[in-house]
Amino acid sequence: MSNAILVLFAHPALQRSRVQRALAKAVRDLEGVTFHDLYEAYPDFDVDVAREQALLAAHDVVVLQHPLYWYAAPPLVKQWFDLVLEHGWAYGARGTALVGKRFLCAVSAGGDEAAYCAEGENRFSLRQLLAPVEQTARLCGMEFLDPFVVYGTHALGEDEIEAAAAAYAARLGALRGAER
Ligand SMILES: Cc1cc2nc3c(=O)[nH]c(=O)nc-3n(C[C@H](O)[C@H](O)[C@H](O)COP(=O)(O)O)c2cc1C
Repeated sequence: MSNAILVLFAHPALQRSRVQRALAKAVRDLEGVTFHDLYEAYPDFDVDVAREQALLAAHDVVVLQHPLYWYAAPPLVKQWFDLVLEHGWAYGARGTALVGKRFLCAVSAGGDEAAYCAEGENRFSLRQLLAPVEQTARLCGMEFLDPFVVYGTHALGEDEIEAAAAAYAARLGALRGAER
């Protein structure tokens, strides 16, 4: 049985994007993947909660794809979390809509991988910096998967970006087919 994948994509300046644009292109037309561009859908941050909840309910794997901005996601993602993950729906005693789904962060970062550790410039690993997202997913009963990360974006050439995009598509392909 194959898993349905929902990609929640958030880039506030897609016209200037190199890396996320390539990642998006590599997965948006994959079979079994619903690609949902949040900044395109909600330029005024007016998130349609019922639509988003219906999308979540209809998929097995949720992917949150975005560039890292100030060690976090761009602001529409916060708005999306605040509005969509309602008490009694996503969490709380009767909030079980997301239980058993899997959650993957797909993030790009300007900093090098070596900078994301205790001794490095950024002092924390990316996995540590994603702790609020990880805990949000867990609170909602979802399994938080090992994040897909593209580091050092500023220094990447076209070939390296294409390789990262191919690796991302392969990761989603594996998730689509993977049994729990
Ligand atoms: C407002 C802003 C904040 C950023 N903050 C970070 C950061 O905290 N850590 C980091 O490694 N890169 C940071 N970056 C770099 C972006 O993550 C990087 O440019 C992006 O992932 C590249 O993808 P793109 O080509 O799709 O835009 C920031 C960029 C912008 C514009």
